[in-house]
Amino acid sequence: MKYGYFDDNKREYVITNPRTPWPWINYLGTKDFFSLISNTAGGYSFCKDAKFRRITRYRYNGVPMDNGGKYFYINDAGTVWNPGWKPCKTELDSYECRHGMNYTIIKGSKNGLEAEVLFFVPLETWAEVQKVTLNNTSDKVKKIQLFSFVEWCLWNAQTDMENFQRNLSTGEVEVDGSVIYHKTEYRERRNHYAYYSVNVPVTGFETDRESFLGLYNGFDEPETVLQGKAKNSIAHGWSPIASHCLEIELQPGESKDLIFVLGYVENDAKEKWESKKVINKTKARQTIARFRSVEDVDKAWSDLKKYWDDLLNAYILKSEDEKLNRMVNTWNQYQCMITFCFSRSASFFESGIGRGMGFRDSNQDLIGFLHQIPERARERIIDIASTQFPDGGCYHQYQPLTKKGNNEIGQGFNDDPMWLIFGTVHYMKETGDFSILDEMVPFDNKPGSEQTLFYHLTVSFDHIIDNLGPHGLPLIGRADWNDCLNLNCFSDNPDESFQTTENKTEGSKAESLMIAGLFVMYGKEYADLCSYIGKHEESVRARKHVANMIDAVKKFGWDGEWFLRAYDFFGKKIGSKENEEGKIFIESNGWCAMAGIGLNEGLVTKALDSVKERLDCEHGIVLNNPAYTTYHIESGEISSYPEGYKENAGIFCHNNPWIMIGETVLGRGDRAWEYYKKICPAYLEELSDLHKVEPYVYAQMIAGKDAYCPGEAKNSWLTGTAAWNYLAITQYILGVRPQYDGLLIDPCIPSDLKSFTVVRRFRGTTYQIEVNNREGSMKGIKQIKVDGKILSGNLLPLIRTDNVVKVEVEM
Ligand code: BGC
Ligand code: NOJ
Repeated sequence: MKYGYFDDNKREYVITNPRTPWPWINYLGTKDFFSLISNTAGGYSFCKDAKFRRITRYRYNGVPMDNGGKYFYINDAGTVWNPGWKPCKTELDSYECRHGMNYTIIKGSKNGLEAEVLFFVPLETWAEVQKVTLNNTSDKVKKIQLFSFVEWCLWNAQTDMENFQRNLSTGEVEVDGSVIYHKTEYRERRNHYAYYSVNVPVTGFETDRESFLGLYNGFDEPETVLQGKAKNSIAHGWSPIASHCLEIELQPGESKDLIFVLGYVENDAKEKWESKKVINKTKARQTIARFRSVEDVDKAWSDLKKYWDDLLNAYILKSEDEKLNRMVNTWNQYQCMITFCFSRSASFFESGIGRGMGFRDSNQDLIGFLHQIPERARERIIDIASTQFPDGGCYHQYQPLTKKGNNEIGQGFNDDPMWLIFGTVHYMKETGDFSILDEMVPFDNKPGSEQTLFYHLTVSFDHIIDNLGPHGLPLIGRADWNDCLNLNCFSDNPDESFQTTENKTEGSKAESLMIAGLFVMYGKEYADLCSYIGKHEESVRARKHVANMIDAVKKFGWDGEWFLRAYDFFGKKIGSKENEEGKIFIESNGWCAMAGIGLNEGLVTKALDSVKERLDCEHGIVLNNPAYTTYHIESGEISSYPEGYKENAGIFCHNNPWIMIGETVLGRGDRAWEYYKKICPAYLEELSDLHKVEPYVYAQMIAGKDAYCPGEAKNSWLTGTAAWNYLAITQYILGVRPQYDGLLIDPCIPSDLKSFTVVRRFRGTTYQIEVNNREGSMKGIKQIKVDGKILSGNLLPLIRTDNVVKVEVEM
């Protein structure tokens, strides 16, 4: 069953039934100020950091689910309803939610009254703007009351839900006309406050939650709304909220717009106060003044749409497959921007308090995004590298607010350093900006420790070869890409986290074939880079290590039909036919295939055929097989999951593209395509009841064939799946791949795809690349013409021109 449809022209997904199997959400904001918003207006806002600067409250794990949000209540002659259906759940006459590029429009109607709310965060603005349009479609005069509602979070999202002995006494607000200010802790060390305004005079307001709701009531029966009268409560402690009460009269056919602004302000310590205890409201007033009229708001909204048009114009696919087009042109790119902004911090599956920016995650997120705003990618690379240690090791995460390494998760994930090479190489291939290598970047953010970014890449490379195990393969450390393959952990205590518990690396023989493949592929990229920039000695040195690694993999990493996954603490094989469970894993096979290890000897073909045979299923490729059926203390968290879920034989969508790309190395376009479609959300729309999460974005995990409910997805939005699928489809399947010197044209497509066109902005020039595949091949190019002239080879050179470069490709 479907719960809506794609409106491709508007780049919107339109939800027509509010009872989606799980809240289907969207993100507002492009920088600093962000909101999450569900299809029933659930969600919250924060500035810069979802943990430390949470502006409004949300209840994860609440009942009913999706509890707390930006609610508007209408009391129309005693009938109380919300345009987004929740929280009152009054049956609506019509309902629609349009999730677009960083905006959401929720529209409901009841008894001849239509209410539409446009939610968005204007560019360069620390505020969410809400335009409410009320339209009387009946033939009678309507006198209604409209109530807004947000619940303030006491800034630190974690202590906000823990430290009630303090929290319930600290809350403070100010009300000034139609603006409600939230200033908890502003009296002491905080130099920031929030506010919620409306552009007309109010008839009343509430700032104390229990006054608004009534004792023991939920959001679905707020006393103030039911009584149609606000009590003008001023919160002192307890739970501060902001609710405006407006009396509105509408003639038949009349419509009215109201503008609400939910904003955040930081003041200099010296300019905090207007007078004793009265906060300095200057900046809030300035922002509110920018959005006084409907014209102001519409202009800001259209600027946001233009911003997205421009971003998405960097890569446009025209093919006969509308699902493919909408993923490549809109939703996959959009999700990449969101993962770039949020890493794994805040979604409806990530609470915003547990995880900051991941070292490996953020490096991977870059690759789906850097063709859009390379400058921000550049800044991100520097931020990430600044959290590295002098020996090349890394904090696993850092906090977006401070940009400093987050010690709660610690370090010792031995794949981490390689991802810095990965991110930087992709950045330079897109932009040609080698100056990034000369940037002076500190270690662990310590002033005085600066070295060039290139030096950081070198220590990243060296961190792998300085940490080799008994087979000459990379030691795994706490874990590699698979956070749950904890081979040095041996945890028998349920009260400790697998991620942070003592890591018994001393004397460990645990080695990773996944890191080995990663090292071969991106170590070679490092060596190529060295050659390219004239560091020949370093290049020779690097190549030697890569060659050694290839030998080690062939000698100790091949299991006969596929690549091993690892050696454990004791030096025993993992991911081998010798194992009872977990005989074969996706990660090592994906990476060794992409790296082409043993390609000529047929190892890649064999490995990928084994993947097909043992790991593939109806819904995608599972991570390992057979699934672990009991806890293996020597393997760690992976075996803690029930069969078929997450890292224990779930379809961990992030790594499926590794196999797709591996298939393109073999030229098997049909297979790459089959794998692509299986997990691609637009193709799963009809399955929404099973799949459960949004049909417009990837989920991290789809339950695998061993699961209780195969095909059911979880953890949508914040996953490396977005960037990797974007890389796989655009660069390896459609095959338009940036290189230092130009654009490589190397499609590997399904044989029945007869033609497609990619319009690609690359280093300032627009290339229109028309690919014809009349003979139905999967890979291989007969001829390329550039502006009518035959090109030798398949690397489009850099051409500086304002004209569109016409490229005709015959396969
Ligand atoms: C999950 C992993 C995740 C890790 C992060 C584990 O419980 O299974 O997917 O990366 O937590 O801390
Ligand atoms: C999610 C984490 O964000 C990512 O870093 C990790 O690689 C995967 N889980 C697999 O464990």
